[in-house]
Amino acid sequence: MKCILMNKNTEVLVAEYKEKLSVFTKIYEIKNIDYAPMILKNEYQKNGNEEFLRQLSDWFKGRGIPSFRDDLDILLARINISSPKELLDKAFGLSLSDQYWLKPFASKIEYKDINFFDHDFNSADFTNATFSNNYDFSLQVSLISPNNTTDGRLKKTWIIDNGTRYLLKGGYKTEVMQPFNEVLATMICEKLGFNCTKYETIVISSKALSKCPCFINKDTEFIPAYQILYNNCDKTKAYEEYIKILEENGIKDARTKIENMFILDYLLLNEDRHLNNFGIIRDVNTLKWLDVAPIFDSGQALNIIDYNDEEMIINGQGRFFYTTLNFDIITHYIKDFNRFDLSKLDNLPEEFASLLHKYQNITKMTDRRIDKICTLLLARINKLKGIINDNL
Ligand SMILES: Nc1ncnc2c1ncn2[C@@H]1O[C@H](COP(=O)(O)OP(=O)(O)O)[C@@H](O)[C@H]1O
Ligand SMILES: [Mg+2]
Repeated sequence: MKCILMNKNTEVLVAEYKEKLSVFTKIYEIKNIDYAPMILKNEYQKNGNEEFLRQLSDWFKGRGIPSFRDDLDILLARINISSPKELLDKAFGLSLSDQYWLKPFASKIEYKDINFFDHDFNSADFTNATFSNNYDFSLQVSLISPNNTTDGRLKKTWIIDNGTRYLLKGGYKTEVMQPFNEVLATMICEKLGFNCTKYETIVISSKALSKCPCFINKDTEFIPAYQILYNNCDKTKAYEEYIKILEENGIKDARTKIENMFILDYLLLNEDRHLNNFGIIRDVNTLKWLDVAPIFDSGQALNIIDYNDEEMIINGQGRFFYTTLNFDIITHYIKDFNRFDLSKLDNLPEEFASLLHKYQNITKMTDRRIDKICTLLLARINKLKGIINDNL
């Protein structure tokens, strides 16, 4: 299919897309490289056309549900397709995290006719296919949906509630903590004044999930740090270079906002701050960089992977750009400790314990585990208090 890669209303390039293989096989014309996904623009600037075609296919495939999605096989069986790649062009490749889409070359269709910010989609079926325990296989799930293009390992689904688009996310396999850690991250950010995506708890199909509003609207896109830094930094100095790139592009208080994120991760022992779990928001009409994206995806925390009833690990390793570092070492990169008032977290372990107790009938978490998690949280707060005092 000859098609045009669009960024909202702007033509980016004209290419040949083979639907069956889900690859691009030819670029006919580059129209507006500035409006391309940043990873493609960075590739083009560095290597010209050489790797561009492959990168275009990779980027497009990367919009789909990843092969490592929790319980992918079950989901595919329920929606009756054999691979997430099949979903990619079902709804023009549209997403709720950016404004890219594939327009058939001869088509007169416009962004305003099809985007999922203006147009509702059926989310009940996909939510059911994702989270329910007893699925009715005779159901036909609508594939005209932004659920074709979600990233990440955890089961998730976009829903519409009173006109607002929300992302629902579950825990990994039988683990129940991720959704609660998202809410804990929100509690911390609200108390410390950090800009974050606001997660709450919701129960669907007898599972406690996290629910957060979409932080993108039809004039903006999320650009992950991975794309910003791609072909664009010395990996050994990525932290400073990332902050510099953001500042050069007009993002206010970039350093403060990045530091806040690492402070949050310190408290939570969040092991998963990889380069797709933070980034910036850009205006897709003017290409102006607007802000750092509000902190999201902080669920892989409080040692949930290694945790068992017998042990409690009070330190760990966090992702730090292209490397992994002990959380204590990551704090060496923080320049300004003055602005963190941790006394605001004094009631937090009790508040988090009550949240976990409230949903105990659903999660089946033991009292002992709740106690240990909240003791660990308190230990992290006290450890950070010590570091802040040492640095004043
Ligand atoms: N609130 C949101 N608004 C818009 N896009 C989002 C939002 N939350 C997540 N995303 C996008 O969805 C991707 C997957 O979500 P994430 O929370 O990271 O899931 P996972 O825990 O499975 O990695 C993110 O990398 C980001 O691109
Ligand atoms: Mg993620």
